[in-house]
Amino acid sequence: MSGARYRAARGSEAGGMNAAAIAAPVVIRRNAKPRIAWPWLDRAGRFSTLKASVLVLALLPGAMLAWLLATGQMGAEPFKQANREAGLIAYRMLLFTLLVTPLRVVGNWPQLVIVRRMLGVITLGYALAHLGLYVAHMNGDVAKVASEIVARIYLTIGFVALLGLLALGVTSTDGMVRRLGKGWKRLHRIVVPIALLGLVHFFLQSRLDVTEPTLMAGLLLWLLAWRTLPREMQASGLGLVAVALVAGLGTVLVEYAWFALATHVDPLRVVLANLDLEFGPRPAVIVLMVGLAAAGLPWVRRSLARLGARA
Ligand code: HEM
Repeated sequence: MSGARYRAARGSEAGGMNAAAIAAPVVIRRNAKPRIAWPWLDRAGRFSTLKASVLVLALLPGAMLAWLLATGQMGAEPFKQANREAGLIAYRMLLFTLLVTPLRVVGNWPQLVIVRRMLGVITLGYALAHLGLYVAHMNGDVAKVASEIVARIYLTIGFVALLGLLALGVTSTDGMVRRLGKGWKRLHRIVVPIALLGLVHFFLQSRLDVTEPTLMAGLLLWLLAWRTLPREMQASGLGLVAVALVAGLGTVLVEYAWFALATHVDPLRVVLANLDLEFGPRPAVIVLMVGLAAAGLPWVRRSLARLGARA
């Protein structure tokens, strides 16, 4: 691979940021044997503690799920239960993937970019496992699964989201990044509609208890609101407090809209429940707290740097 092409590939993983700032210099020998891109290695082929730790953490819920399934601890309908768990893990993993860029900027942690592609591919893996477990729950009857996907709108939506994730997965290699050029970035913006479709899929199958999808909606709102901030505000306390308030209020609105449009429950009662902490904090409160904690991050970072300078 020529130096320029290699740098282009590096830049793709860096998502447009200054890749040179992230990596140590990489020496590329002509005729060098192509190395296997093990997920725990960095671009230079060195062991990366960051990548290895994130890999283990990201695979842990899947390993636990597989163990519970293999040891018969998933209840009367194990594949149905495992399908739900895998769907939940897939969605959370998607949000973690989207969180990489804000965390990199707010936490001034540019190295974090090296885990983004890996997390995206793991998200796809969980989503495929989710589909596979659904097929297993339907006793392997693929024709029945296909007809269900066509007949049930929430499954159709999930299917479209999965196709989107597949498109992102197959175009995530260095070769595809080079081949698609500028189109690659444009294509990868579909991650936002995919996250929204996944959320609709999540809400529609949840029916009355929408605590978890509402929480996911609020966290997604935070991520989207953060993206709309001007660059110079993205790590500023003021900008982040504004994002936290928008996301918290947006979560209340999402919850209100769901109960108003999809149920016979009085939406105002549900919204007012946000003020009552008797049964634990509601999603809007959690989103607000998480957002405010993120707003405090630049301050913590600066204080630690000052302490370090004094020591
Ligand atoms: C062909 C594609 C898909 C199919 C056939 C499918 C199927 C299902 C089914 C059958 C359920 C459980 C419904 C129930 O038990 O009542 C479910 C739930 C769920 N799915 Fe999917 N899904 C697909 C794609 C996706 C994708 C791409 C995501 C995430 C990015 C996702 C996330 C979820 C979540 C979060 C749940 C709820 C889990 C819970 O209740 O805790 N699904 N899906």
